[in-house]
Amino acid sequence: MGAKSYNVAVVGATGAVGNQMIQVLEERNFPVKEIRLLASARSLGKVLNFKGKSIPVEELREDSFKGVDVALFSAGSGVSKKFGPLAVSAGCVVIDNSSAFRMDANVPLVVPEVNGDAIRGGPGIIANPNCSTIQMVVALKPIHDAAGIRRIVVTTFQAVSGTGKRAIEELRHQVSEVLQGKPATREVYPHQIAFNCLPHIGAFLDNGFTEEEMKMVHETQKIFSDPGLRVCATTVRVPVYHGHSESVNVETQRPLSAEEARELLSRAEGVKVMDDPLQFQYPMPLDAEGKDDTLVGRIRQDPSVENGLAMWVVADNIRKGAASNAVQIAEKMIQRNLL
Ligand code: A2P
Repeated sequence: MGAKSYNVAVVGATGAVGNQMIQVLEERNFPVKEIRLLASARSLGKVLNFKGKSIPVEELREDSFKGVDVALFSAGSGVSKKFGPLAVSAGCVVIDNSSAFRMDANVPLVVPEVNGDAIRGGPGIIANPNCSTIQMVVALKPIHDAAGIRRIVVTTFQAVSGTGKRAIEELRHQVSEVLQGKPATREVYPHQIAFNCLPHIGAFLDNGFTEEEMKMVHETQKIFSDPGLRVCATTVRVPVYHGHSESVNVETQRPLSAEEARELLSRAEGVKVMDDPLQFQYPMPLDAEGKDDTLVGRIRQDPSVENGLAMWVVADNIRKGAASNAVQIAEKMIQRNLL
């Protein structure tokens, strides 16, 4: 008897995350029976590759989900809000990378190695958290389990690929313009991103934080099932193509030494400790590119609070931060006979 295989749809297949989803499905040998690649009418005529086969991109339509078992969405919130429920009505499991349903009380928000138990079976929506949240909770889960985190202060250094393909092009183009002594052409970001840092990701809110910062607060509380967890985030866009980095300080209920934290993290699923600063070993975005592990280093005691730890956390934002996490959710469902 052959193992079961599934009809999979990728919504937003021509985008930065969608493209990576196709690649991750192939690399991880996800049991795909048939793959359907969906995007806007603009992409009609495009052909993408899956396991050596050319697959034409189809226009996303209301009837696109007939016969599809699992749909990975990454085409923005608007598309998810409109087409997600339609896919569910067609009997599909929707794994949604947008922010549309993340804070919906009826929608599980899942990082498989952190709260895989939150996944339920049957047609419905499962939300993939924000890229910055995913890598942070993967690194903090073992510390939370061992010592009870009560406060997190995080500053992110986020790659332009998180904004999408146009932003990657904008950085490339601006670097070349600046090196030629020309003014940088701005289309995606409000300021020049080449050779600069923008402390501004998502719209500013009334409380002075940005949407991205508040996503990190609310999503972390939801994933750890702890609405009282105190989180303060500053999110910064930096001129890096791939890989988000984060400076994370935590305050725990019980004391935990840097040594113990390093030991716990070195055994944690989905984590790779790179922490030998004297040998110049610490995680950098270039190390994370193309990988699914969350890299953790610079683990040290934070002497400014009683039970404090500081660390540096890096992951590929398009892979673990988006595409790989979505595929891993589907894999977890198969493992637990939920798909
Ligand atoms: P398209 O390439 O046809 O515009 P990125 O975040 O890298 O910019 O990618 C966004 C993805 O979402 C692309 O695949 C894009 O398709 C897709 N997309 C955007 N708007 C729609 C829409 N209204 N219907 C279907 N797909 C969409």
